[in-house]
Amino acid sequence: MIHTGRHFLQIPGPTNVPERVLQAMARPVLDHRGAEFAELAREVLEGLRPIFQTRGPVVMFPGSGTGAWEAALVNTLSPGDRVVLFETGHFSQLWRQVAERFGIQVDYVPGDWRRGASPEELEARLRADAQHTIQAVMVVHNETSTGVTSRIAELRRVMNQLHHPALLLVDVISSLASMEYRHDEWGVDVTVAGSQKGLMLPPGMSFNAVSEKALAANRGARLPRAYWDWQQMLEPNRSGFFPYTPATNLLYGLREALHMLMEEGLPNVFHRHQRHGEATRAAVRAWGLELLCAEPREYSNSLTAVAMPVGHNADHLRNVILENFDMSLGAGLSKLAGKVFRIGHLGSFNDLMLAGTLSGIEMGLRLAGVPHREGGISAALGSLASSTQACAATSPGR
Ligand SMILES: Cc1ncc(COP(=O)(O)O)c(C=O)c1O
Repeated sequence: MIHTGRHFLQIPGPTNVPERVLQAMARPVLDHRGAEFAELAREVLEGLRPIFQTRGPVVMFPGSGTGAWEAALVNTLSPGDRVVLFETGHFSQLWRQVAERFGIQVDYVPGDWRRGASPEELEARLRADAQHTIQAVMVVHNETSTGVTSRIAELRRVMNQLHHPALLLVDVISSLASMEYRHDEWGVDVTVAGSQKGLMLPPGMSFNAVSEKALAANRGARLPRAYWDWQQMLEPNRSGFFPYTPATNLLYGLREALHMLMEEGLPNVFHRHQRHGEATRAAVRAWGLELLCAEPREYSNSLTAVAMPVGHNADHLRNVILENFDMSLGAGLSKLAGKVFRIGHLGSFNDLMLAGTLSGIEMGLRLAGVPHREGGISAALGSLASSTQACAATSPGR
């Protein structure tokens, strides 16, 4: 089938890259050892801090999110160290594998892939660790495979109440610059992020925001590290340089994306994602389909995972939608393969893009013969309209 117009990329990352960012990257490559580059690098390294809501350093690597997972571990831990990691879904499973390959002992807290990390379970585990043998608590903030967001501030509170010295390592790959996240205030020690989701860039860059406590742990950490070594990075970063070739053109894109996020204002960015999350959930409920996330206070605002009715395959539905409407939706991952589809509503996105996305899904449900009720689109539009009125009523001068 010949498709016209724009492809709809509604997977939960990589996300649509806005025209302004594409234009910013479409420049000649510059000398990464020259003064112009140093100025660019210093600007983005500084500009990233408010996005993570930290005053500390953000280390930036050419590489995907998996590299930043590895960096968080090898910079803070030693062989044989014990960590607690919550099973939230596919991505917690992958992070566990990275840790285990480095000889880290992972206490993997079982989960049903429908809820976030449990503060009560963390409390029980830390209480039982009077000797403080647990070196780190690891959590995927927004589990991209399930659309469930863990409550990081509550987990930190438990650690503080018990005066447990473990580090807190958090993956925000699909929540950064989309949902509220406060590295400093929530006492996170290492935040792991990537370029390809809320930051509206292509894949290829990843980040660690690092607390003072994590820097102190780094000095004693004995896992082998070379490419991902923070110290190798932090020293040259001070003057705007890198120990190896940085992703120069992505940095042009990052500078533009940071400008866009600041122009909109982070609270507005979060509010926009919240409105889109709510409208999507309203559509799913009206269709009579089931949200995978079982805990309303843990709904993700950057993506929604929808469970398929028994006997219907999510990949078939996604193919029907791709072929007929040129829209890509996220697949169910590992044990959820074929059982769920995921709608990405993060990054460079607006009300009408969401309306188009949901319309494509509703038409696809019909074409694929998936049992559902009519009315999902009206429910979503109603949700968007009521929150637009709420915005208009509170904006100045009206
Ligand atoms: C929450 C989360 N963590 C980690 C990763 C792995 O990142 P990457 O595929 O960039 O290596 C992803 C990728 O989608 C993710 O969503």
